Formats: sequence, C-alpha cells, structure tokens
Amino acid sequence: TQTHPFYGDAQQAGISTEPQRHSMFMTFDLTTAKVGDLQVLLALWSSAIAQMMQGATIGQVEPKQPSAVGFDTGEALNLGPASLTVTIGLGPKVFSDIYGLSHQMPPLLRELKQLPSDQLDPALTGGDLSVQACADDPQVAYHAVRDLARIAKSTGSAQTRWTVMGFGRASAGRGQSTPRNLLGFKDGTRNLKEDAEFEQFVWVKDGPAWQRYGSYQVVRKIQMHIENWDTDRASDQNNVFGRHKVSGAPLTGTKEFDTPDFKKVDATGNPVILPTAHIALAAFENNKGIRILRRSYNYTDGLNQFGQLDAGLFFMSYQNDPAHFEMLQTKLGASDALNEYIAHIGSGIFFAPPAPKEGNYIAQEMFS
Ligand code: HEM
Repeated sequence: TQTHPFYGDAQQAGISTEPQRHSMFMTFDLTTAKVGDLQVLLALWSSAIAQMMQGATIGQVEPKQPSAVGFDTGEALNLGPASLTVTIGLGPKVFSDIYGLSHQMPPLLRELKQLPSDQLDPALTGGDLSVQACADDPQVAYHAVRDLARIAKSTGSAQTRWTVMGFGRASAGRGQSTPRNLLGFKDGTRNLKEDAEFEQFVWVKDGPAWQRYGSYQVVRKIQMHIENWDTDRASDQNNVFGRHKVSGAPLTGTKEFDTPDFKKVDATGNPVILPTAHIALAAFENNKGIRILRRSYNYTDGLNQFGQLDAGLFFMSYQNDPAHFEMLQTKLGASDALNEYIAHIGSGIFFAPPAPKEGNYIAQEMFS
C-alpha cells in the first residue's frame, strides 16, 4: 500500500492513480442557499481528506472530556493510509445562480443527455457533489466517506443522495495486471495508461487556472443480469465482447495485448469480431480516435426481491469532454450485444477540479 498526496500534484489523486482494490462512492445534494456554507463545507472536507489520506484520524476518537462526542468515528484506526485517495466532484447545480458561481461553470459541464437504453432510477442519479474514495482496504474507503458524510450533516449544508460500494477493481492502470469484471472478462486491457494519453484525453487544459488539470467525471451504475449471462454459451460470451474470456485476447489474435483486427473475416466471409461486439463499437479506431479513461469497480447489492444476484459494474470514466462518453454510450446503447445482459440504472456527471495548493481547500480559487 502507498500514501498518496492530497496537495501538490496538478491533478486530484484518484484519477490517474493506479486503481486501488476497493471503492466507496457517494453523492450529496446541497441543502444551503449560501455560498459561504459551500466554502466552509469544501474547506472542512479538504482538511479531513488530507489527514485521512495520510492514514491519520480527523480528530479525537475518544475525547478527554467524557461528555464530548468523538470527532473521528474510529473504524480506520491503525489500518494505515491503505493507498487511500478521495476525489471530489462538483455537479452542475453548484454553478447555478443561487451561489453566484454561474460565470465559473466549466464550459462542458451539463446534465448528460438521455441515452439509448437508459433505465435510470432517480434515486440512483444526480447529486451536487461527488465523493469517490478508493483504497486497498474497503474499511479505509468506507471510513473516509462516512466521516465526510458526517461532516456534511453536522454543517447542515448537504445531505447524502446515493452511494455505491465497489470491490475488486475492474479497470487496469499503468503497470497493473488486468483484473476481471463480474462477467468474468478482463477489463481495462486497452485503457489509457500513458501520460501523453492523459494529456490528450483526460485533463482539461484551458479555461481559468482553477479548472486546468481538472477532468469531467461520469459515473454509471450498470446492473448485470448475472443469471442470464451464466447460462450463455462460452462462444457467445466471447462474441459479445469480441475477446476470449480466459486470455483476454481479441478474437483475431492469441495474446491479451494483440491489436484487434476489426476487418478480418473468416472462411465464410463473416467478420471474426462481430460489428455488435462491445470492443468493435467502443474501440478508438472506430470512433475517430476518441478515448476515455475507465476507472470502474465491481459492486453487489446482495439479492433482489426474486432471490437473484443483484450486482454489476460501477462504471466510472474521466475525460476532458463528456460528449466523448455520450458518443460512445450512444453507439453502445443502440447496438452493443452486451445490452441483453446489462441495464444502466444510475448516473451522474461532475467536474473534478485540480488538486488544491497546500493550505488551500478544493476549488478555493473558484470563489474569488
Ligand atoms: C472495453 C466490459 C461498459 C467503454 C471493454 C472490455 C471489456 C469491457 C471486457 C475489453 C477489455 C478492455 O480493453 O478493457 C464492459 C462491461 C460494461 C462496459 C462489462 C458494462 C457492464 C462500458 C461503457 C463504456 C465502455 C458504458 C463507455 C460508454 C469501453 C471502451 C473499451 C471497452 C472504450 C475499449 C475498447 C477498445 O479500445 O478495444 N469493456 N464495459 N464500456 N469498454 Fe467496456
């Protein structure tokens, strides 16, 4: 495990950071109409995050005065930093007129448009602030979000909206082996990994200084129809993705990192990777070179009311233009063979500002 800095880097930790094993994501609705309250909340959150990422508590667990309530809830004591990163996102409503911040709106931030195959549950959608905590220990990630929720509640400025706890990273970063999602396939083989790719596709490079090295965060809670998937033939599963399940190799190759050949046909003239395969629709070669950073996690909500496994992918992507996600999901939602086995049930869009300078709080310059 590592210790990641909250201050100092241009970008917030938790985006280009190699994905940790577990995550806890929560969104909040602002309940105050005063911009000063929003500033106080972001300042309290920032100092708490900086301490927690160092593996420290955010205050006394067991105060000396017996009648006092502990400030830190204590369940992460002695667990260390566990590679914790906490990444804050600002939703479109932060920039509404009530806070006098409309002139600071990141130019591409807006609600996502209605996308094909959306089955969104309003209770799993939206939010004015997002908190993405990732760590190698699930209890450390949980503690971070829990204590930030507690701070929000104590200020009366924001209330919890929806949350997803993720496990077993389903995305690969630089130098990491490729993990598997709950459909059993390697996920993240052709994810962004190089600095130059982040510069081109992830970081915002223009606009006011407080936006530079920020990024647009898109989250989708994607339920999987696991029981149906588990009865599907192996060859059909491979055709859904255009890859082999065990090796992760494209159907036109033999090794995981072989470049897929979308033009290759078999002896009967049919494409080897079907045009409806997930990778055929999503690959940058077939999308004018557009790429996004995927930073997803597996999730489970236990069983549904019919006793079936209720689980899926908590999809998270970062890009310097949310239209890139929309363009990909418009294609996937219309034609992806995977659609038979998934449903997009939750959604959110946020702007993750750059990291604060030492002593500042997150997005502080936005208020000046
Ligand atoms: C690739 C799984 C949803 C975009 C892949 C791969 C798998 C996969 C197994 C191949 C390995 C790799 O290169 O990472 C899934 C599952 C999803 C899902 C199980 C839903 C439950 C999405 C969504 C998007 C997306 C919503 C974006 C709108 C991509 C992209 C690639 C990819 C861009 C790389 C394609 C390439 O360059 O070859 N996904 N994915 N995926 N996926 Fe998904």
